[in-house]
Amino acid sequence: MQNYFTHSRTPSLDDLAPNDCHAAWTRAVQTLEKTFDLSISNPTKVGLPQVTATLEDLQTAMNAHYEASPQGLRVTRDAISEFYGGTADPERIQLFASTSEAIGALIKLFCQPGDEVVTCVPTYPLLDCLTSLECVRLLEVPLQDCAGLWTVDLWALDKTCTPNTRLMIAVSPNNPTGHCIPKAEMQKLVDFCAERRIALIIDEVFASYRLNTDPDLTAQPAAAYADKGIVISLSGLSKVCGQPQHKLGWGVFGGAPALVEEAMQRLQFITDSTLSVSGWVQRISPHFIQKRHVFVEPCMARMRANLDFLRSYATHDDIQWRVDDVDGGWSVVVRLPGWADDEAIAAKLAADGVRVFPGAFFGYRANQPALVLSLITPENDFALGVSRMAERLKDYL
Ligand SMILES: Cc1ncc(COP(=O)(O)O)c(C=O)c1O
Repeated sequence: MQNYFTHSRTPSLDDLAPNDCHAAWTRAVQTLEKTFDLSISNPTKVGLPQVTATLEDLQTAMNAHYEASPQGLRVTRDAISEFYGGTADPERIQLFASTSEAIGALIKLFCQPGDEVVTCVPTYPLLDCLTSLECVRLLEVPLQDCAGLWTVDLWALDKTCTPNTRLMIAVSPNNPTGHCIPKAEMQKLVDFCAERRIALIIDEVFASYRLNTDPDLTAQPAAAYADKGIVISLSGLSKVCGQPQHKLGWGVFGGAPALVEEAMQRLQFITDSTLSVSGWVQRISPHFIQKRHVFVEPCMARMRANLDFLRSYATHDDIQWRVDDVDGGWSVVVRLPGWADDEAIAAKLAADGVRVFPGAFFGYRANQPALVLSLITPENDFALGVSRMAERLKDYL
């Protein structure tokens, strides 16, 4: 007989139970004297300076009259346009309560339940949840992996997409591979999607954290440079200012003008039904965006220091792992020998008091074992945690 949850879009309670890694980490935190969380990605909990505003600006924002705006207030969209150096037209910017909410809304805009969304893996694992909550199928196409140099496999993409594929999501800089899509490859993606009437989302939340400044890599917002189809660049305060708690994300629309116009009008039917972006956050965000460097600069300095430490450690004689290049973003990937089981190793490391993510969590395949470390971990913890990880890996590999 059916129960209340027979038709629920949520996983079963068994699937929601903590996995081996999580259970081992919880025990380690309770029993070991010192543990090192190298997976931490909450920017408000890593000892970096927080972006803030004056009391006066906060009060003005909080006391302002409420204006219901399905697109988002113009003053906020102007500040976002300025963030992009004017390349994004404020009329083509839509506000959301987060990038994740934006993805859900865009799936509603382009898809019926049962339709398909395609992405390239390894990538951000939340896409799996967001698509299943919207009742669409996520098609995963493996990125081509040439010793850490990742490229979109257009042939595989072509073989995988069907007439029911409505949306493609690409993440650049990608989480966790750290690679950025080059301009030439982005143009091919835009062409590919436009030919098949597939809308293209580029999740650019990490674009402010570029370590590789090669001008051949796509500049943000990619949508502003798209000449056909429909392309939406996503970002938000959670990474731009290190402020996930204030809940503001946005999309910049680009492509064929008539399509952009129609998409934005239809989207506002969706956003008007919840008006989920807080009024005061919209008003205070221009101040936050203007002061983002307070967070971004020390964050970049930390990322560089941690990456240098890891790279120099990897040159020691008896090391069996190597470090992938990072074009940008908050993660770095350590590649293990092909026969290793990254989930089992991450669980053992968690029991030893070092928390890292296994590559499998992001879609690395069994023959691509990897560990993912957060570059925003406080430097001291990172150095001590990497040293402990390296010592233990000598036994496990
Ligand atoms: C690639 C990527 N996109 C989106 C998000 C979520 O952003 P938001 O807080 O705006 O939902 C994250 C969070 O880590 C992310 O890694």
